[in-house]
Amino acid sequence: MSATEPTSPHVMNTYGRLPIALERGQGCRVWDTNGKAYLDGLGGIAVNTLGHNHPELVPALAEQLGRIIHSSNYYHVPGQETLAARLTALAGMTNAFFCCTGLEANEAAIKLARKFGHGKGIEKPQIVVYEHAFHGRSIATLSATGNPKIQAGFGPLLEGFIRVPLNDVDALKQATEGNPNVVAVMLETIQGEGGIHEMRADYLKQVRALCDANDWLMMIDEIQTGIGRTGKWFAHQWAGIVPDVMSLAKGLGSGVPVGAVLAGPKAADLFQPGNHGTTFGGNPLAMRAGIETLRIMEKDGLLDNAAKVGAHLKGALQAAFEGVAGVKEVRGQGLMLGIELDRPCGVLLGRACEAGLLFSVTADSVIRLVPPLILTVAEADEIVALLAPIVKAFLAEPAQ
Ligand SMILES: Cc1ncc(COP(=O)(O)O)c(C=O)c1O
Repeated sequence: MSATEPTSPHVMNTYGRLPIALERGQGCRVWDTNGKAYLDGLGGIAVNTLGHNHPELVPALAEQLGRIIHSSNYYHVPGQETLAARLTALAGMTNAFFCCTGLEANEAAIKLARKFGHGKGIEKPQIVVYEHAFHGRSIATLSATGNPKIQAGFGPLLEGFIRVPLNDVDALKQATEGNPNVVAVMLETIQGEGGIHEMRADYLKQVRALCDANDWLMMIDEIQTGIGRTGKWFAHQWAGIVPDVMSLAKGLGSGVPVGAVLAGPKAADLFQPGNHGTTFGGNPLAMRAGIETLRIMEKDGLLDNAAKVGAHLKGALQAAFEGVAGVKEVRGQGLMLGIELDRPCGVLLGRACEAGLLFSVTADSVIRLVPPLILTVAEADEIVALLAPIVKAFLAEPAQ
């Protein structure tokens, strides 16, 4: 099975798709149109927080569908107030803007940073971003992204970004020294698409201090790491800091498209009517999905589950791959884990699929596991039992 099957004659060829179609799911399992079952180690790329066909989420959404799906941001949407209050309380921030996707949340964050700069008389505001970062595929978020491969063919990219390496405070100081145009630092707490690279807690604290000292916005992209994935509501909370701006999406709606940008006091009032908007963002169905996702997560203790089962899975993967030549590192936190190999390993996607396991490969050589947060210890063990022989057999083959 290969990941480069020709796609439909009518759907644009944007993804190298595996030749299966998933038609139903239950918990952490999904079934394809031939009835074959898979253990879902991907969760729709860190989206299906509550797994599939959740017994409380589905009836709540069905009830909402029968009530109202979409109204308009020309009117009040009570669910926006409820979800904004909940998210800002969890984050220690004050206000939220709702949109539909991650890139939209980051676009809003970038606009906030620029508006913040213009408010201080800075004509050409600049935002510090990181090597290997991924912030989305619109032109602004692609410009903030640190991956020349996915930027290729889409120039000219936007100016206004300064790129620095991860976890290197001296490099950050050097890159910004004496530059009055810097307005913000934008980072992922754990880079997901970049290959599961973690920002150290002490580094995050130093960035927070630099942002305070220089009156910059600290903007954290928690689109992949947020909503409980690492065992805290937001991954930066492990470092005991609070950002000024935070973008969310993916897991927030458990599969229903919901994005959000949250702001603290420094950024909460920057947008005024007419400055920003989106037709679908914050619609009643999306808000219900977000509200129910957070409610069920809290009721069922899914943060603790992500921390506990994630630690178990990481330990089991480390044990399974200990001393295996070709496995460079098992890293990550909670249910956001990466296994870095010493060679490109996209071929494993098809082999695992045949064995009944779903995951993804990022940065060419990192196997990424971001399963639903309801994963059990037994399912974690099953992931390892399915994955380890496939990876070991692959590594035993002569390198291509
Ligand atoms: C950290 C991060 N930011 C932004 C995005 C973009 O989100 P979306 O695909 O919903 O636009 C992603 C998606 O993978 C992401 O992982």
